[in-house]
Amino acid sequence: MNTINITFQFQDGQPAQTHVAAEGESVLDVALNNDIQLQHNCGGVCGCSTCHIYVLQGDDELPEISDKEEDFIDRAVNPRINSRLACQCVVQAGGNDLVVLMPPQDFLGH
Ligand code: FES
Repeated sequence: MNTINITFQFQDGQPAQTHVAAEGESVLDVALNNDIQLQHNCGGVCGCSTCHIYVLQGDDELPEISDKEEDFIDRAVNPRINSRLACQCVVQAGGNDLVVLMPPQDFLGH
């Protein structure tokens, strides 16, 4: 099975963590499986903006951003050019390692 490493950095200052991700897993899956807090109000179906993250490295190997994902990112807190929704960042076969930045999770997401 193809695996990559995902490094999670945190805007709230907690130390970075690196975890293995298998093909087909999303960044949200890997975060939750490793007890990393990440809101996911819609349950991971591209129906909210609460799993918003920033992809610092490796984005060229992620699935293309859809119009729906872009719409929800527009509603996220502080969207940037490298914003993605973690549930839509699914690890591909032969993908590169990822580095992601996690926004603070103490907001009331929608
Ligand atoms: S959890 Fe709702 S869009 Fe990712």
